[in-house]
Amino acid sequence: MQYEPILKNATTGEANLADYDKGRQEFTWKDIYNGFDTFGDGKLNIAHEVIDRHIQTSLKDKIALYWEGGNGDTETYSFNDLSKLTNRFANVLKDSGIQKGDRVFTFMDRIPENYIALLGTLKAGGVIGPLFSAFGPEAVKDRLADCDAKVLVTTPKLIKVVDEIINDLPSLKTIFIVNRKSEAYELKENEKSYENAMNNASDEFDVVQTSKDDYAIIHYTSGTTGKPKGVVHAHQAIAGHYATAKYVLDLSPDDIYWCTADPGWVTGTSYGIFGPWANGISQVIYEGGFGAGKWYKVIEKYKVTVWYTAPTAIRMLMKAGEKPIKKHDLSSLRYMCSVGEPLNPEAVVWGQQVFGLPFHDNWWQTETGCIQIANYPVQDIKPGSMGRPFPSVSAAILDDDFTNELPPGQEGHLALKSGWPSMFRTYWNKEDLYQSRFKDDWYITGDKATKDEDGYFWFVGRADDVINTGGHLVGPFEVESVLIEHPAVAEAGVIGIPDPLVMEVIKAFVSLKDGYEPSDELLKDIKKFAKKKLHALACPRQLQFLDGLPKTKSGKIMRRLLKARELGLPEGDTSTLEE
Ligand code: PRX
Repeated sequence: MQYEPILKNATTGEANLADYDKGRQEFTWKDIYNGFDTFGDGKLNIAHEVIDRHIQTSLKDKIALYWEGGNGDTETYSFNDLSKLTNRFANVLKDSGIQKGDRVFTFMDRIPENYIALLGTLKAGGVIGPLFSAFGPEAVKDRLADCDAKVLVTTPKLIKVVDEIINDLPSLKTIFIVNRKSEAYELKENEKSYENAMNNASDEFDVVQTSKDDYAIIHYTSGTTGKPKGVVHAHQAIAGHYATAKYVLDLSPDDIYWCTADPGWVTGTSYGIFGPWANGISQVIYEGGFGAGKWYKVIEKYKVTVWYTAPTAIRMLMKAGEKPIKKHDLSSLRYMCSVGEPLNPEAVVWGQQVFGLPFHDNWWQTETGCIQIANYPVQDIKPGSMGRPFPSVSAAILDDDFTNELPPGQEGHLALKSGWPSMFRTYWNKEDLYQSRFKDDWYITGDKATKDEDGYFWFVGRADDVINTGGHLVGPFEVESVLIEHPAVAEAGVIGIPDPLVMEVIKAFVSLKDGYEPSDELLKDIKKFAKKKLHALACPRQLQFLDGLPKTKSGKIMRRLLKARELGLPEGDTSTLEE
């Protein structure tokens, strides 16, 4: 079905980006840096720009964080409160011997201490690695071991996960236990009480004067081969977070902003910490999980004005229908954005119908660090399109050689001219892989897309086998590697199959070793095994036994063929298929 564009007034809006074309001509990164309080000489620190810069202004006592716990507890923190608390944590790290560049991970729910630890680490010159609290032991181990993390901040609930793999983490020197409920907990040898350490630390700290190129953030993301790779960002990335939060999310001083993402995902740091706070905006952080009623209650209670969420959540809200919407006063909302997966045109239009506001889709990646393609307040929305490139961004659709730009309407590889400040700097310890993502001046995104005559980009799919389930990328290889660790499994092939709610669900095909027979019991056991080792989202929803998996002559499992057979699509070229 063809959807009519949602027309906007393209020039007279009061949006921060009042005129897209003019913005493209006039925007400069120099202007963005001029608004910062850098240390000069190319030195800047994300945490200083995000928090401490505001302490010298009228924003000092403004509420930075409205925290709503999963159980209904509430807390508020001003910029000044956060400044002092993050100073304390920076001192705690300094006392623990943390040096510039050392990796400090957090493994917690969305509690205030998570945000304080992340920002405090940046102040101390450390590199942050935020993890989802849903990770299992292997997922935690892979990430901490890959970049030799020295410090971990976690809770009594999650330390059990860490205990299983602690012997495989020789670089991990100190674990801080956040025990906000003062549960009975006996600290082990390398563990320290977060609360005690914070109480004993000074709330004054001279922020480490990092250079714009010093590493600041590592987020792990999936590829087709190998374990998750650590995408590394430098302090300079704050320029991208700040500018896109201002011009794409359109944040203004009076906004109450809510980003539903967890800091374990890059959206939850770039736009759940850095971008909004760099703009001096009050934001809501909700510890609880998804629930239509629960979410609408948050919007109503805090009078959220700008809301940034994801397509899977929007589709779940659509499924919940209008009844829960009618129970709440959502009139505070003025602007809504979405990211992470293709946003169906129906969802854009649904927003318009039920909230009187469309969702503004935007596109970016862990690697790009900040939004690259977007729908803006003043630009007409073509429902189903990701929008147009951010003012300083050059995006193109390239041919299969990554050499020539393709004309409008033709499907090809989405590429970006490299060089924006929040561009990733490397994959940790995988410089060759990093280099392989570039061709001449182009960064090859790994997505396929088209561009239309008006310069709007339309997502087509991934160019590789990476699965996008509910906005989270899952590498099939990671899942296959875990499955074949099960004593009964000989081979495994993992694919994503289309799903109306979460975009793709993970389906695994396994063949069994001699002596094992397919049974429901075995199926359950393999699923249970996978659950223990993988991130909850990466566990196969469906599992099927096959006598053998289709492989190339060189022994590589042909996921493409598994997918074609599963979906009843043409099998394509099978000349390399093993006899
Ligand atoms: O395939 C694209 C999809 O998500 C990928 C990036 O995933 P990740 O690094 O986890 O995301 C970080 C922050 C968004 C992209 O390569 N993707 C993201 N946004 C969109 C999207 N696909 C379609 N439409 C989008 N708006």
